[in-house]
Amino acid sequence: MSIRVLFLGEIVGKPGIATVKSALRKLREDKKIDLVIANGEGATGGFGLGRAHSMQLFKLGIDILTGGEKIYYKKDMVEFIAKNPNILRPANYPQQNPGRGVKYLTVNEQKVCVINLLGNADFPRTHLGNSFALAQMLVDKAREDNQIVLIQYHASTTAEKSTMGYMLDGKASAVIGTHTKILSGDARILKHHTAFITDNGRCGSQTSVGGFSSSTEINKFITQIPVRSNECWDDLELVGVLVDVENDGKATAIETVRVQVESPAQQEENEHV
Ligand SMILES: [Fe+2]
Repeated sequence: MSIRVLFLGEIVGKPGIATVKSALRKLREDKKIDLVIANGEGATGGFGLGRAHSMQLFKLGIDILTGGEKIYYKKDMVEFIAKNPNILRPANYPQQNPGRGVKYLTVNEQKVCVINLLGNADFPRTHLGNSFALAQMLVDKAREDNQIVLIQYHASTTAEKSTMGYMLDGKASAVIGTHTKILSGDARILKHHTAFITDNGRCGSQTSVGGFSSSTEINKFITQIPVRSNECWDDLELVGVLVDVENDGKATAIETVRVQVESPAQQEENEHV
């Protein structure tokens, strides 16, 4: 038996949640997806994940939400993550931190281990443990128990992400990069049957700066005056990768998924025509 996993790109703000709401149920059914893992750390206004939004995303068909450097940005998540094993924070935060970075579950009678890690480069506010050394340790431990290992690696540099992919080739079934919110064109099965992509994109506006209105971001870059970013509702798309894994842990396919959805304003317009 095999399992089919959808890794959704970072969900950015309300437009990202609306996109998931419009597209995920049908996609899950049409493609016979067994497990949906999504990066949720930008779901609340692009900066963090609040408790209410996390619960809404589970209701919309996501099984596991992963984090990154913004996972503790919302105060109520600091408490809630300790109680909810389906929300992961990077495993390389200090062990005593609220929440966990590893989730064990059973999918189609297969033992599966999902691991969330944060890259070490270009995150000036976080000073976490070495993601590579920890990945080796956690993956070896999971494989002793014949687990299918799925890695969500939230990292800023392409070098770290591709290095993680090659290091775990043949050990993890998938190494999926997040954080940069741009779908990269390198989805592939590596030599030893690990599915890999540098970045699985974002759910939300595609004609925007990381999900935010470009006009505000342009002004910020010119003036250097910090102002709040504005969520963008233009050209909404559900974006991610679909990965098939056999019960021996070998990935057999990875394909990118892009589903365009109408924005609520467009929907209203169409209803009045
Ligand atoms: Fe991030």
